[in-house]
Amino acid sequence: MISCASCHLSEEAFTDSPLNVSEGINTLTGTRNAPTVVNSAYFEKLFWDGRSPDLENQALHPFVNPVEMGLKTHKPILDIVQTDEEYKKQFKDVFGKTGTAVTMKEVTQAIAAFERTKISGNSPFDRWLYGGEKTAMSPSQKRPRLSCSPIPPSRKYTRDEISGQKMLKRSRHC
Ligand code: HEC
Repeated sequence: MISCASCHLSEEAFTDSPLNVSEGINTLTGTRNAPTVVNSAYFEKLFWDGRSPDLENQALHPFVNPVEMGLKTHKPILDIVQTDEEYKKQFKDVFGKTGTAVTMKEVTQAIAAFERTKISGNSPFDRWLYGGEKTAMSPSQKRPRLSCSPIPPSRKYTRDEISGQKMLKRSRHC
């Protein structure tokens, strides 16, 4: 059975590290791996290519992505939240709605609200950047990781990786 947590594992900071590409239903693979949802509350665009505007919209996609959860429509999800006793109770408590009044709008709001609770904080980087704590990071940690010259390829880069490197170079004015 595939759930969001099959690919966004809490013990891997909600990623599927070390996989290069995520594995969905029937061990089908896509072209990308699962990014973290930690701090996704602050993301202005979602997905590696920014094609989704917010967490509510993003949450519609995995259910019906053919290589992720592989459903044809969202109906099976609605059937569960409209009939399962525990979900019924929780949707009633939170949204004051039951039965067919519960739609994907409420489902995706619930998922997004959960994701927005996953906030990291107080890391050495946070203390240095936001807390002004000068010694929180060592000099080598403060040096930018990414330079203008890409890491020598240990394998052939994918199309997405090449376009990512081009974007990075452009943003760094290389
Ligand atoms: C089969 C593995 C898989 C499953 C299941 C899955 N995801 Fe993902 N998730 C991914 C991959 C791969 C991406 C990146 C896709 C892309 O950028 O095109 C992603 C991207 C995301 C992002 C965007 C993060 C960012 O930095 O832009 C969020 C949020 C997210 N998933 C939440 C969910 C939720 C909520 C569910 C369940 C409803 C879910 N995922 C189910 C693999 C999965």
